[in-house]
Amino acid sequence: MRRLAMDRAKRLLFGSFLSSSQSSLTPGPASSCFPFSPFSSEAPMSLYKFPPVTVETINPKVKRCEYAVRGEIVSHAQRLQQELQTKPGSHPFDEILYCNIGNPQALGQQPITFFREVLALCDYPALLDRDETHALFSSDAIARAWEILDLIPDRATGAYSHSQGIKGLREAIAVGIAERDGFPANADDIFLTDGASPAVHMMMQLLIRSEKDGILCPIPQYPLYSASIALHGGCLVPYYLDEGKGWGLEIFELKQQLAVARTQSITVRALVVINPGNPTGQVLSEENQKEIVEFCRKEGLVLLADEVYQENIYADNKKFNSFKKISRSMGYGGDDLPLISFQSVSKGYYGECGKRGGYMEVTGLSSDVKEQIYKVASVNLCSNISGQILSSLVMNPPKVGDESYESYMAEKDEILSSLARRAKALEDAFNSLEGVTCNKAEGAMYLFPRLHLPQKAIKAAEAAKTAPDAYYARRLLDATGIVVVPGSGFGQVPGTWHIRSTILPPEDKIPAIISRLKAFHEAFMDEFRDQGVA
Ligand SMILES: Cc1ncc(COP(=O)(O)O)c(C=O)c1O
Repeated sequence: MRRLAMDRAKRLLFGSFLSSSQSSLTPGPASSCFPFSPFSSEAPMSLYKFPPVTVETINPKVKRCEYAVRGEIVSHAQRLQQELQTKPGSHPFDEILYCNIGNPQALGQQPITFFREVLALCDYPALLDRDETHALFSSDAIARAWEILDLIPDRATGAYSHSQGIKGLREAIAVGIAERDGFPANADDIFLTDGASPAVHMMMQLLIRSEKDGILCPIPQYPLYSASIALHGGCLVPYYLDEGKGWGLEIFELKQQLAVARTQSITVRALVVINPGNPTGQVLSEENQKEIVEFCRKEGLVLLADEVYQENIYADNKKFNSFKKISRSMGYGGDDLPLISFQSVSKGYYGECGKRGGYMEVTGLSSDVKEQIYKVASVNLCSNISGQILSSLVMNPPKVGDESYESYMAEKDEILSSLARRAKALEDAFNSLEGVTCNKAEGAMYLFPRLHLPQKAIKAAEAAKTAPDAYYARRLLDATGIVVVPGSGFGQVPGTWHIRSTILPPEDKIPAIISRLKAFHEAFMDEFRDQGVA
């Protein structure tokens, strides 16, 4: 009886495959580690008496991987939010303010109209044949939607695309990059991805062969990097950013950490640079970038340039320069430096995190290595088409003379100038707190203030079996509903404590947030201030 049921299940599971290639089945290379072919009638059947998967038996690399920006503190915030819904008035605040993650539209930021118009028209092209559409949509959005649809085979936005992304969209992105940098870009170097994160994973997968392969990463860092390195079984080689110098990236620190790693027989394969920085908000100077390029060339490292915050610059004396532009301006061509640049639709003034669009530009790798990247990309078939379209739009926004240009610029300027004001207001607020110092957010979307916590607070954290910054963040959440991430999730110089807060809450809520923060901090210090300190 059981044998009959088994045969039926096998037929249902493998029936279509069996019928198309009945007798010529040979397990592919991936099957060679199975003691029994899944297609053989000899496969034994066993009845497990225990759960086949437990936390003890899963891949240890998965267990090692941590991602603080959605960690414990956020789960606690979600519980509090539910309690507020079921029992209004049960906490000393009436809403949870998520300052833990760079997700602008979750905090009320509006999407850029032009981008959404084009997306809507591409998603439902029948609108393009309707008269009303001309009253509802701008003429350049209609024209752009036609242009984009014509780049897509059969105008089928619901079909899989080329695994690297639709060629015409990659060409448009290459034009955008060339305009930004003043140096040519090639559509064949561009891999469209579902946000920057999968692109980073793909590169880690490509570079990390064993735990002896190291990736130099800034500390503090955005935990995508530590998580991805852990998942792929590599070794994170830390280099510390200098908080005392506005989170400066010092070349001697890179050299020193590289040397230490090499003495431990780690083969360092790549250097990650996040510019503008997350969580640290610094924007690198051109000189500094040139030194970094030279360092990578000399040491034979791949430069992984995370440039997802390229549009988020707030300091008047700072400017974003892509590493591609810097290296080309130094006279280095594609063959001189392996350079991978990541860009995303999630950040900038567009903040379209949920659309999952992004790309990496891969230069300085040989065509056979690029073929391997293409092969890995093709395992996922393709990235989503709306994200691909959006990536082409953010790299080619409306131009002077287009109908949408003025309203587009007004929306963009309003978002960026408001972010700059919010960054400054929160920075000043943190700096006004007793025992807190906070570097300027020159760019990106975060502040990373340092907490000089009293010994008594550190002891209280110890008693609560938690890190002091996690203790502070938890107390802040319980008292105010404000969610920040403890610095330990990003890495920090041992013995120093930080929190990361986004600058994203709506501008009209910032004064209330600041007064809640100040009241909390004063009470916290009154509770824990070391004896004899005024
Ligand atoms: C520095 C940095 N890189 C990459 C990402 C990934 O963004 P996404 O996958 O949404 O493009 C983020 C997201 O916050 C980030 O801060």
